[in-house]
Amino acid sequence: MKNEIKIFSPATVANVACGFDTLGFCLDTIGDEMIIRKTEKKGICITKIEGFDLPLEATKNVAGVSALAMIADAKPDCGFEIEIYKNIKPGSGIGSSSASAAGSVFAINELLGRPYNKTQVTDFAMKGEALASGSEHADNLAPGIFGGFTLVKSSSPLEVLQLPTPEDIYATIIHPQIEIKTSDARAILPKEFPLKDAITQWANMGSFVHALHTSDYELLKRSLQDVIVEPHRSQLIPHYADIKAAALNNGALGAGISGAGPSIFALSKGLENAKNVEKAMRNVYLKTEIAFETHVSRINTEGIRILE
Ligand code: HSE
Repeated sequence: MKNEIKIFSPATVANVACGFDTLGFCLDTIGDEMIIRKTEKKGICITKIEGFDLPLEATKNVAGVSALAMIADAKPDCGFEIEIYKNIKPGSGIGSSSASAAGSVFAINELLGRPYNKTQVTDFAMKGEALASGSEHADNLAPGIFGGFTLVKSSSPLEVLQLPTPEDIYATIIHPQIEIKTSDARAILPKEFPLKDAITQWANMGSFVHALHTSDYELLKRSLQDVIVEPHRSQLIPHYADIKAAALNNGALGAGISGAGPSIFALSKGLENAKNVEKAMRNVYLKTEIAFETHVSRINTEGIRILE
């Protein structure tokens, strides 16, 4: 059995417009790297974090908290040392905390000979995610751990459904360099919604899932609508309406807020279209003072992968 493992823990998009706290998909061109090794000394020790200034103390770090939850259950006769090389900016809306929380437990599970299944690994990772966002939700964690598109059918007990990924689907992400705390983006949401809006949303969610199963791009396009969360959160993102319009006017199937924002995602049929959408979205922010990054990615159907 290995004593050390290096992994790539990808960025993810949660909510996917019509599936607040339930739908997600996995990206491929951006993610963190982590090295996890067994140590004689028991417990979890985070020895290095590069990229962003985050706490090394295991109980204050999402990767540490999820790892501690796993070893409290597994009771291994060793400990683990974690190095984190972060590329995903915290507060970006593309699952920065999830990548760390999922990465540590995915790797420890591998080093222990895989005693836990993917749902159980996700359950441990939720403990870390809760530290960052103040609530236990798995819509960023599940796509990282299972790959592709996922649906969190239930959080307690956790039940994750792996959905099919149409072959020709690509994602474009634009990330304005501002930070939105998930807890703040959750706090602005109303506690109650009109029944009319709820009906629209669950019809869209059901038809989106059907569209994935049937690779029906036209239906997918008509399903990527959010009448519940977007009207409240879009005000936190500069030029949101212009970016979304630019994506849709340039052939995107749909666009919406990625997770809690500020990143905005678009889905397209074909890589060329996804790149055109990227260009159109960039043009909106290039006319402003806002610094931003963009990513174009296939949907990563594998999820977290072992590098060494
Ligand atoms: N579903 C979560 C939210 C994702 O939108 O608040 C961010 O953690």
